[in-house]
Amino acid sequence: MKVLIATDKPFAKVAVDGIRNVIEAAGYELALLEKYTDKKQLLEAISDANAVIIRSDIIDAEVLDAAKSLKIVVRAGAGYDNVDLDAATKHNVCVMNTPGQNSNAVAELALGLMVFAVRNQYNGTSGTELKGKKLGIHACGNVGRNVARIAKGFGMDLYGFDAYCSAESMEKDGIKAVSSQEELYQTCDIVSLHIPATPETKNSINGALVGLLPKGGVLVNTARKEVIDEVSLINLMEQRPDLRYVTDIMPAAHATFIEKFPERYFSTPKKMGAQTAEANINAGIAAAHQIVDFLKNGNERFRVNK
Ligand code: 3PG
Repeated sequence: MKVLIATDKPFAKVAVDGIRNVIEAAGYELALLEKYTDKKQLLEAISDANAVIIRSDIIDAEVLDAAKSLKIVVRAGAGYDNVDLDAATKHNVCVMNTPGQNSNAVAELALGLMVFAVRNQYNGTSGTELKGKKLGIHACGNVGRNVARIAKGFGMDLYGFDAYCSAESMEKDGIKAVSSQEELYQTCDIVSLHIPATPETKNSINGALVGLLPKGGVLVNTARKEVIDEVSLINLMEQRPDLRYVTDIMPAAHATFIEKFPERYFSTPKKMGAQTAEANINAGIAAAHQIVDFLKNGNERFRVNK
């Protein structure tokens, strides 16, 4: 059996070594394709692989067509919007993610971006503190819960909206559940996005919603760029010189944001929420174990396609 790691954004070496140990202990072979610049390289590398570990790498119908022996794709991470699930099902390929394994890393970055924003991007001027501010956690999955845990340490007041979580489970984590996303934005000084990119959420974070934030509001995005309606957010920020947007996922309109709002907008150059040795080890090694357990025992616990 051949297991391929295909990562445009490579794991830390220590994580690759850990994955190799798990794969070789199972008697399988490990192949590595990192920092590829052309899809053709992926098509070639995956052609004889039985399993593949990816990150935000795109697995579409063309890749699946080329992967003649593929049985399983594991997205070492949470969001799997980069995998064509229907095409995978048609190709009889199981798709899994590794929920929770990189969520602390993403949550720490979300808090880091908040500090950076309220301290005016460390430009030497007087900013504000997080203590006592109302933080809106938009979706309370693994990352949102870690954000809540860390934000409590900053002394923030926590609010959350998640259509799929009970108010009781949120309140157990010290998050006050509000009944709509509008209420969340109206109530909070800072909103941190943790929604997945789905047909329902794409472009859903628009000027009308973000415009509900009170004066000085901050929007933090460590989720996906696709959930933002960039045109209406730019229009809103033109009308509301008090609002700030900090993101770990560079918008398509990055150049416009930078030009218009150099002091109120910031994007990391490459998504780095999950880019820590710990998250790479946790998610990568979990992915390796899931592959071995699937190939040897048929365990489909983390399967996300039907
Ligand atoms: C995820 O969905 O797990 C995060 O967005 C991290 O993505 P990455 O592995 O591409 O850094």
